[in-house]
Amino acid sequence: MFSQNVVVNNAELLIRKANGGNMRPIWPDKDSGIVKVIDQRFLPHKFAISDLKSVDDVINAIKRMVVRGAPLIGVTGAYGVYLAVINFDGKTGFDDFLINECNKLKATRPTAVNLSWGVDRVKHKLLKMTNQSARIDMARDEAAKIADEEVENCKKIGENGLRLIDEIWIKKKGEIVNILTHCNAGWLACVEYGTATAPIYAACENNIDIHVWVDETRPLNQGARLTAWELGKHGVKHTVITDNAGGHLMQHGMVDMVIVGTDRTTCTGDVANKIGTYLKALAARDNNIPFYVALPSSTFDWKLNDGVKEISIEERDPDEVRYVQGLEHGSIKSVLISPASSPAANFAFDVTPARLVTAFITERGVCKATKQDIKRMFSEKIIQKKGIPS
Ligand code: MRU
Repeated sequence: MFSQNVVVNNAELLIRKANGGNMRPIWPDKDSGIVKVIDQRFLPHKFAISDLKSVDDVINAIKRMVVRGAPLIGVTGAYGVYLAVINFDGKTGFDDFLINECNKLKATRPTAVNLSWGVDRVKHKLLKMTNQSARIDMARDEAAKIADEEVENCKKIGENGLRLIDEIWIKKKGEIVNILTHCNAGWLACVEYGTATAPIYAACENNIDIHVWVDETRPLNQGARLTAWELGKHGVKHTVITDNAGGHLMQHGMVDMVIVGTDRTTCTGDVANKIGTYLKALAARDNNIPFYVALPSSTFDWKLNDGVKEISIEERDPDEVRYVQGLEHGSIKSVLISPASSPAANFAFDVTPARLVTAFITERGVCKATKQDIKRMFSEKIIQKKGIPS
């Protein structure tokens, strides 16, 4: 089991981040071969760092959502491969061992495609390597490279999305721009900047007056707990709302645009994201409000054509629905909110069909949610046989 060894208060985190420190949600400790992660389960009330020392630690951390968010679990999976290599005892053949450990890592959560993408990328580099210390160096360096690339991708998503916010701001003649977001697609979910939040941070840096409606995002409240915390730390004006408030706000002209992240997007433009995203897209369409999805190319699944039929939707422990976690007199508590005997169901994601998506904001630019436009932007990634027909 991973150990939770350091508790740092929010002020210290802020100072580290403000000083340009490496306060990413994941980083390797060079000397010890340990991977450190911010434990996201108890934020914003408790800030803790956990040590991951083995593949089992990584599996636990991903399953229990110590780390979460599509790009971050991709990076964590990649570091999981590094830990697998470190712990290789030579009792079996390396390639068989590696494939088995990678399969275990990829089975932890089914929806975000970044996980298998990150794991496979490191695995493919390692297969057939014979020198153990070279394998360790390669795995660590490749995982770090993936993390750095995701940071760069998110930075570019910010620059590309900024233009869309700026257009609205100009249209509104400098009046505040109201953006609605769902779940947490911020730096905690993505290493740095975030996907959906990157254009928001870029807009703030460019002195565009913005305000963010933050869906609380039941059952685990990634919006109320994590997005609100992140935005607050960056000084972004925001308001937490219930998951069902968005439609009402849209009807009354209180939302100018929606920006969300995604866990897996087909090459035809269907978007899997946190449960409730689809309903926001429907409400946005009914009210002529642009609905944008921000994603790095690692979140496209180039093999899938039909999101509703083909994307596997994670079902989590029903107790996450039946209980809610919060702070009482300084302690984090979990309380039962439904009758003790009532069953619950916990579908963690849904799929928004491409027709409801105004556009994608990617590291390469903004493109329509159509197979033609996605293909035009990422021509080298399309798998001709299984992917979209040309
Ligand atoms: O269950 P989670 O918290 O891992 O779900 C995360 C989301 O749904 C995010 O919106 C998605 O990963 C996009 S993150 C950039």
